[in-house]
Amino acid sequence: MTAQTLETTARALVAPGKGILAADESHPTIAKRFASIGIENTEEARRSYRDMLFSTAGAEEFISGVILFEETLGQASSDGAAFPKLLASRGIIPGIKVDSGAKPLALHPTETITEGLDGLRGRLEKYREQGARFAKWRAVITIGADIPSEACINANANALARYAALCQEANLVPIVEPEVLMDGDHTIDRCEAVTTWTLREVFDALHRQDVALEGMLLKPNMVISGTKCPQQAGIQEVAERTVRCLLRTVPAAVPGIVFLSGGQDDVTATAHLDAMNRLDRELPWALSFSYGRALQAPALKAWAGKADNLAAGQRAFYTRAKANSAASIGRWDEGLEKTA
Ligand code: 13P
Repeated sequence: MTAQTLETTARALVAPGKGILAADESHPTIAKRFASIGIENTEEARRSYRDMLFSTAGAEEFISGVILFEETLGQASSDGAAFPKLLASRGIIPGIKVDSGAKPLALHPTETITEGLDGLRGRLEKYREQGARFAKWRAVITIGADIPSEACINANANALARYAALCQEANLVPIVEPEVLMDGDHTIDRCEAVTTWTLREVFDALHRQDVALEGMLLKPNMVISGTKCPQQAGIQEVAERTVRCLLRTVPAAVPGIVFLSGGQDDVTATAHLDAMNRLDRELPWALSFSYGRALQAPALKAWAGKADNLAAGQRAFYTRAKANSAASIGRWDEGLEKTA
């Protein structure tokens, strides 16, 4: 019964033409986003910004689920509807970020381990009562001269697997997010090697913890050149290498792969996803999006913290949601960026 519910939810999150909005920025992260438009990071600013995104009319055609931050799960829309209820009433599945962030890894000062397992079982129970049906945990892998270390990849893979097992026990679909950062001057070759290594370790760990692959989603980075690498790979190469890496590492039983955008500009993230879905290959899983910045950046700018700009912010968000929906089925083109 439980396994079946998990699979139904996982499949609904990657229904054709749909993907996930990541709106789960922690307080320090949303403070950075707000600073970029010159507004103060207050509880009310966070609430009204997210209210603007969540009440965008028509977004439910393209958005299957929203990842919320703990505070947002308990907040309500201006018309009084609790956010999880508002989303669910429109057929959008509420989710929740449950890790407590990447912290320095002992004896490995340039690397991190994501924390949050202590007390997680109790928190998951509470989140489910508040309406969450899926969860997210992000591990961070950095590429540098001598890193990542085996210690970092192994510790993060184990934490991801323990989190995923706890989620499934609590009847929540785990989104497993091992992010290999794009920061650095490394080549796309190196990104492919590190991403392959990481995903192998993650699926080994998931297997060891008896996680049901049918009842989870993977949220990986794309295989891409480091931001400071002089040789930047083009759209087609990113698409081909990313799909090759995933075919080598992700079991066919996983219903879907939803990418993070990781700091790529919004249109590039869309173009990459579209190119992958246009490759002439049979893929065993859906390939869609779970973007934060690449769905929100133009909306944040258009809104700029002013109630008068609400409609402009919603138009910008709608446009990105529609474009990424098209990319998730390989039907995007630049023309979609101007319409809507
Ligand atoms: P970005 O798409 O901005 O990378 O955010 C996705 C996310 O949820 C990171 O954990």
